[in-house]
Formats: sequence, structure tokens, C-alpha cells
Amino acid sequence: MPESAEVTLREVNDDNVQAIIDLSVSEDQQDFVAPNVKSLAQAFATTKVWVRAVYAGEEPVGFVMLSDDDDKPRYYLWRFMIDHRHQRKGYGAAAMALVHDYVRTRPGGDRIYLSYVPADGGPEPFYKGLGYVDTGREHGGELEAVRELKS
Ligand SMILES: CC(C)(COP(=O)(O)OP(=O)(O)OC[C@H]1O[C@@H](n2cnc3c(N)ncnc32)[C@H](O)[C@@H]1OP(=O)(O)O)[C@@H](O)C(=O)NCCC(=O)NCCS
Repeated sequence: MPESAEVTLREVNDDNVQAIIDLSVSEDQQDFVAPNVKSLAQAFATTKVWVRAVYAGEEPVGFVMLSDDDDKPRYYLWRFMIDHRHQRKGYGAAAMALVHDYVRTRPGGDRIYLSYVPADGGPEPFYKGLGYVDTGREHGGELEAVRELKS
């Protein structure tokens, strides 16, 4: 797989759902994100989410789940992961740029929120590098951050 493979976000369907379930983070990252099988079960139980597989070329490499509710337009990145075999190749940053593009198309989509576990080896430097800033709010031990999407 060339590291310059184009990153796309695709629907999760019959053809790729098992491949998405099989993606995983490394053992020391397991406190930072739920397994994809759990996220997919939660997505099944609510219509108010946007779920996509992250592809690099034709290979599934990650998963994203966003709260996406027309009645309450506050876009929250609920789950995001890149499989441990595919990290540090630029796929996470490219996928987040596509998530930002999607939110910009949504009603009131001028900012996006997320929360992260503040721990060594966690995703904080990744998100800060993408322009997220802490809001000062905390949810169950996770710190909330926001990124403006106007520019
Ligand atoms: C966080 C995560 C999504 C990053 O994905 P990735 O594909 O490895 O990230 P990229 O290769 O696109 O990296 C983009 C930049 O972030 C940096 N970065 C990525 N992970 C980092 C980390 N853990 N610590 C410090 N910097 C990191 C990269 O070095 C790169 O910096 P650069 O632009 O200066 O070169 C991935 O490590 C992951 O899935 N982690 C486990 C699950 C998780 O924490 N999810 C977030 C839940 S809130």
C-alpha cells in the first residue's frame, strides 16, 4: 500500500462491515476508543449518527462516527480510529479533513466538537495539530475540544 493512497470515506454496508469490525487499535490505545463492533451496534440503535469507513485506496483502514441530528445541529465526533497497522501514514489527518468537509455541508455546521482521554500516547497531540482547542468542559474524564470550520 503506497502511503500516498487516496483517503476516502465510504458507507458501511454488507460488503465491508466485517472488515470494519476487524480493524483495531493497539493494546495500549484501547482505553481511547470503543471497539468498532460496539460503535456499530450503538449506531444501529440511533438514526442520529453518521457512520463511515475510512479507506486508503481500496483498503479499509479506519472508522468514524459522528452525531448528526438535524433537529439539534451540534456535530460531535463520537468515535474515530485508524487501525494500528495503518497509523502514522497521514490517513487520520486526511480522514478528519473529509469529516470537516462533511460537517460544513450540514445545517449550522460551522464547528465540530469531540472529546478525548487525556493520557500519554492518546490522541490529544493529533487533534491539537488539526486545530482543535479545549473548551474547558469535561465529560466523564474526557476533555471536550472544538474546531471552527468557517475557514
Ligand atoms: C489518533 C489517530 C486517529 C491518529 O491517526 P493517524 O492516521 O496515525 O494520524 P496521522 O498519521 O494522520 O497523523 C497526523 C499528525 O498527527 C501526529 N500524531 C498522530 N498520532 C499521534 C500521537 N499519538 N501522538 C502525537 N502525535 C500524533 C502525526 O505525527 C502527524 O503529525 P505531522 O502532521 O506533524 O506529521 C490514531 O492514532 C488512532 O486511531 N488512535 C487510537 C484511537 C484513538 O485514540 N482515537 C481517538 C478517539 S477520541
